[in-house]
Amino acid sequence: RPRVLSGIQPTADSFHFGNYLGALRQWVDLQRDHQPFFFIADLHAITVEHDPKLLRERTLRAAAQLLAMGIDPNRASIFVQSQIPEHAQLAWVLNCLTGFGEARRMTQFKDKSAKQGEGAASVGLFTYPILQAADILLYRPHFVPVGEDQRQHLELTRDLAQRFNSRYKKTFRLPEPYILKSTAKIYDLQLVDKQMSKSIGGSGCVWLLDEPSASAKKIRSAVTDSGSEIRYDAEEKPGISNLLTIYSALSGESIATLEEQYAGKGYGALKGDLADLVVTFVTPFRERTLELLDDQAYLTAVLQQGADTAGAVAEATLRDVYQRVGFVAPR
Ligand code: TYM
Repeated sequence: RPRVLSGIQPTADSFHFGNYLGALRQWVDLQRDHQPFFFIADLHAITVEHDPKLLRERTLRAAAQLLAMGIDPNRASIFVQSQIPEHAQLAWVLNCLTGFGEARRMTQFKDKSAKQGEGAASVGLFTYPILQAADILLYRPHFVPVGEDQRQHLELTRDLAQRFNSRYKKTFRLPEPYILKSTAKIYDLQLVDKQMSKSIGGSGCVWLLDEPSASAKKIRSAVTDSGSEIRYDAEEKPGISNLLTIYSALSGESIATLEEQYAGKGYGALKGDLADLVVTFVTPFRERTLELLDDQAYLTAVLQQGADTAGAVAEATLRDVYQRVGFVAPR
């Protein structure tokens, strides 16, 4: 079975609908006929300032959410990145294979360091994409299901894989990004030109673990566009188009069907129905997550099992890498 791998940062108390529709839903779908490795990227989470106690809590919350969403620990290895030392070890080798200028071109560093200024950003934030390349290449996956914002990191990953393979010996598989066009970028409900994100948060970000009534309220107060026609048009009607995208993804109805269904109806009708749909989705999800969080022994056991499987794969890859780079035999 082809392998899939992906990761998510535990940088908030909850995942949001951008994470879910852009990536996590594909994780759940792909686990059926692939060999899946899914991890919580806590090493990435310390590239910006963080609270240690919160990080530990959020890591377990992330695991609970993945399970509540339907990731099956008997099919997928669910693990915590920091528990597999090979991620950091391979990242070092790849750091030494990456040009400074090449790393500089990564747009996420530019965006994330803009606020505090480049000089104040950590070197970890700068080499973040190279750690991500290591995360991926260690497991030799065929596909990496992510949202649009990760595309550039996937390109760097492929470049580094190719470089290593040609400089030393064929070691890595060149992974394909798995990005679903329709939901690759979910926008903030208030700032309709920004993608929904953990760091913006606020009333334009719908968290999966919000009180359902709070999520419904956010949907009902989403910014919409002038005019009154319900039609998908990303340029002219970004607000409505985003709501249609979310509606279509959650209901399974095509956008065309929804446009027909809402012909002659107002924005309020669409928002009301979408709010109901969201409530129907998050209510059981939230209950299941909270239940799982009450059983820390189970969560820890799942992560332990995931780390065992992942660790064996990572170890084998790193052994090849170290040998090919010219390090002496392991002690
Ligand atoms: P992270 O934690 O920011 O987001 C997790 C996943 O959610 C997707 N996503 C979105 N998709 C559509 N619309 C949005 N508004 C939206 N917001 C987030 C992201 O694209 C991502 O797929 N660098 C990664 C974590 C990572 C990783 C990896 C991923 C570390 N190592 C190796 C894949 C493979 C990140 O910060 O994702």
